[in-house]
Amino acid sequence: MRRAKISVIGAGNVGATCAHWAAAKELGDVVLVDIPDRVGVAQGKALDLYCCAPIERFDSMVTGTSDYKDVAGSDVVIVTAGLPRKPGMSRDDLIQTNVKIVKSVAEQVAEYAPDSVMIIVSNPLDAMVYTAWKASGFPTNRIVGQAGALDVARFRAFLAMELDCSVEDISALLLGGHGDDMVPLPRYTSVHGVPINQLLPEETITACVERAKVGGGEIVKLMGTSAYYAPASGSVQMAEAIIKNKKRILPCAAYCEKEYGIGGYFVGVPCILGDGGVTKVLEINLDEGETKLMNESISHVKDLVKVVTDMFPELA
Ligand code: NAI
Ligand code: 2OP
Repeated sequence: MRRAKISVIGAGNVGATCAHWAAAKELGDVVLVDIPDRVGVAQGKALDLYCCAPIERFDSMVTGTSDYKDVAGSDVVIVTAGLPRKPGMSRDDLIQTNVKIVKSVAEQVAEYAPDSVMIIVSNPLDAMVYTAWKASGFPTNRIVGQAGALDVARFRAFLAMELDCSVEDISALLLGGHGDDMVPLPRYTSVHGVPINQLLPEETITACVERAKVGGGEIVKLMGTSAYYAPASGSVQMAEAIIKNKKRILPCAAYCEKEYGIGGYFVGVPCILGDGGVTKVLEINLDEGETKLMNESISHVKDLVKVVTDMFPELA
């Protein structure tokens, strides 16, 4: 049987950690791509990872390159290329630099892996997914952004800490933009089927929501650069759902036209991920407060996309 192939663009913290999770889960062969100046980093990390194979017992080949020809035949391409934020920066501060990087990456992925599904991770996420879509010309189901898988994992982790129970038993959902801009949905959060508000006081749930919103910032403050273990884990969870056609329901930045009244933007919504990418966007009922937060989030995404299209009118 043919092995699946996952290319990861950007061999920095998030990219190398994606390669690590993907290889360890034996999802397929992994190609780590970086710019020519950093090809040694991509090759070195790939070789180091492959040398874990006899110990960890995976048969995924891991290679490093700066040549996009090597992404040919990829089933999934995870795009992590771009600057991360430093203390004091917001994700939006990265837009000027990262839009140029993601545009050029997406054009090359479209040339060499035209049938792949692209999972975008570079920030500011919602604007970078749009950029990759326009630059690649891919159909909307084959472009999806990773943010919700991470944000919801953070929320579940913080709830599990409060409850002193297994994270596995916490089921949660959220919508909207990445991080500070997310729309938490405690109404749709439960612990082994028990609504969360029966187990934790409202102020504790609110504190977990707020901590999840700024979870990325908390880590930037602690270690001086942006998180990578959980962002990579969320990205590879999405890749696995696609490669194995698992039809997992995950919050992802997916293209929405009529859904939630979004009108042609990529925003965090619950999706089914399987063969070929996003197989369905799920529309759930929102109350007045949730709708207001969702509309604010959508409007922020539109503002960011405008910055992209002002820089590159051809992406409009
Ligand atoms: P990093 O600085 O460790 O790695 C970025 C890598 O991209 C570097 O190796 C760099 O050489 C490479 N790169 C730059 N231009 C490239 C190009 N044209 N082609 C190929 N590679 C290129 O940064 P880190 O921590 O890995 O973060 C990467 C991106 O992911 C950042 O924009 C960060 O904000 C974002 N991020 C997004 C998250 C999410 O949940 N969506 C979570 C964490 C980070
Ligand atoms: C995070 O949430 C910075 O987006 C990155 O950790």
